[in-house]
Formats: sequence, C-alpha cells, structure tokens
Amino acid sequence: MKTIVITGANTGIGFATAKKCVQSGHHVILACRNLEKAKQAKQQLDTLAQQHQAKVEIVQLELNSLQNVNDTANDILSRFHKIDVLVNNAGLLTPQLESTQDGFEKQIGVNYLAHYLWTLKLLPLLKKSDAGRIIHLASLMHLAGSIQFDQFKADDVTRYNGVKRYGNSKLANLLMSNVLAEKLKDTPITSNAIHPGGVDSEIYRDLPKYQYAVIKLFLIPPAKPAQLIHDIAFDPAWANRSGEYISLQTPAFKSRNAKDIQLARKLYDVSYDYVKQYLE
Ligand SMILES: NC(=O)c1ccc[n+]([C@@H]2O[C@H](COP(=O)([O-])OP(=O)(O)OC[C@H]3O[C@@H](n4cnc5c(N)ncnc54)[C@H](OP(=O)(O)O)[C@@H]3O)[C@@H](O)[C@H]2O)c1
Repeated sequence: MKTIVITGANTGIGFATAKKCVQSGHHVILACRNLEKAKQAKQQLDTLAQQHQAKVEIVQLELNSLQNVNDTANDILSRFHKIDVLVNNAGLLTPQLESTQDGFEKQIGVNYLAHYLWTLKLLPLLKKSDAGRIIHLASLMHLAGSIQFDQFKADDVTRYNGVKRYGNSKLANLLMSNVLAEKLKDTPITSNAIHPGGVDSEIYRDLPKYQYAVIKLFLIPPAKPAQLIHDIAFDPAWANRSGEYISLQTPAFKSRNAKDIQLARKLYDVSYDYVKQYLE
C-alpha cells in the first residue's frame, strides 16, 4: 500500500484519481479546502476502500493562504512517516482579478505558488519513499502563458485577462516540474507534468454559459486523466521517467518558455524568496 496525497481531491480530476488509487488498494490523503465537500467525497470512497483494503483520510488545505499551506504540511509531517506520490492537482480559473490572502494574483498564488511551498515542505517525506513521484497538473493553456515576475502581486497587475493569467499559472506548474526534475535527478524522486485534456469538471463553472456550451462538446471524462496519473504514480515503467510533459487528447506541444530551464531556475529562486519564511 502506497501513500498518495492529492490536492483538490473532492471533485473533478482529483476525485477521479483518488477513486482509481482506492481501487488499487492505496492509502489516499484528500487535501481539500472545504471539509464538508471532502467528507462527502470520502463517504463515496469509503465503501470502495473496504472492498480493496485501501484507506482514505482528509486534511484541510486552503491554497489561498500560505500560512494554511504551511500549517497543513506541518500536520502531515508530524502524522505520517512517508509519502510516495504527490499529485498537485487543485486549481482554479478566475475570470476577474482576485487576490490571495497574501496579496498574490489568485491564479499564480493558488495554482502555482501555494503548490510550490506545499511540495517543498513535503519533500522530506517523499525522500523516505523508495520511488517518490510528483505529478503536476499543467495545461495546454501554458502555451498562452508567460512568467510576469513583476505582476505576481495582485496590486501590481495591469490589464487582467483571466485566461492569460491561468496560462501563466500553468506555465509555472510546468516549469516547476522541470526544475524539480533537475534538482532531484540524483534521488529516486521523479517529477512530471501533464495536460489532462479538456476535462468535464467544475473548473469551467465561472465561464459564461455560451462559452461552456461550446467547450463541453470537446470534453473528456475525468477518469481518463485519472488513469494517466495513476500510471505515472505507480507503474514501474515510470520509475526512471522524469522532467516529461505528457498530454492527453492533443500532441504535447511545449512553448519556448516551457523549455527554458534558465527561466525555470529563476522562477524557483524568486518563488523561494516569497515563501522562505516557512522553509527556514
Ligand atoms: N478540466 C480541464 O479541462 C483541465 C484542463 C487542463 C488542466 N486542468 C487542471 O487540472 C486540475 C484539476 O482541475 P479540474 O478540472 O478537476 O477542476 P475542478 O473540478 O474545478 O476541481 C478543482 C479542485 O481544486 C480545488 N481548489 C480550488 N481552489 C482551491 C484552493 N484555494 N485551495 C484548495 N483547493 C482548491 C477545488 O476545491 P472546491 O471543490 O472546494 O472548489 C477542487 O477540489 C487543475 O489544476 C486544472 O488547472 C484541467
């Protein structure tokens, strides 16, 4: 039985992944912001867990707050002795400019920076696994993204476009995967990013209805990316594959920015400065 931690596991791709992992008998930790929704998800998984000798637990994780990320990671560090797989899945698309509790533009803050801190905090437990694996939910939309170092803070944002900022955050996820693969190359831990395809989930909930109606025609069920994540997480064929970007539904086109390891290293260093109070 391996231990897998999934952020945003109460719905969508995260829940479908949790279900697959329960069906293959693993210990699944649902890291969710809303405890009520997390309990409902756990309830749905508990019967399956009994059938498959799996285990399901919940931790409360609000990625909107770096303090909460820090506290929840510390809770995990004190309660569990090892993590085998980390799935950085939680994410949102905000059409209007919003801010995290720490003043970051919400999409870069929640989708990327909070997961950066989360991952660095939990690395010591991943290092205790003989086959640690980190999986980042990036997106094809990274093609529209760039890293606007001078606009991480909501107050510094000029000309907000929600889709573009989503692309920025997904590019950041992809760069983080690449730089972690580089930093961890002498360890058994792998780091890979995926585009899950256009997936029928709640992520499009805030889009105008007509836009959603068009997009829905092309969406695939969450079980498809869940299978891919499950393979990367547990299949021995993935033991030595790291720093890859895998795309469902579309060819795995990577933007020039996404291939730029200097940019990835700079992003890592800049991000470290933002969260170092929780790491030192
Ligand atoms: N769906 C797609 O077509 C698609 C395409 C490319 C990439 N992706 C990526 O796939 C990942 C999963 O998306 P999905 O489609 O499954 O979306 P979803 O159904 O909307 O699920 C997103 C999850 O993230 C959680 N979340 C949002 N904000 C959070 C916060 N501040 N703190 C903690 N958790 C938070 C949500 O919690 P609540 O339920 O409480 O809101 C939910 O559990 C995302 O990273 C997304 O960018 C999706």
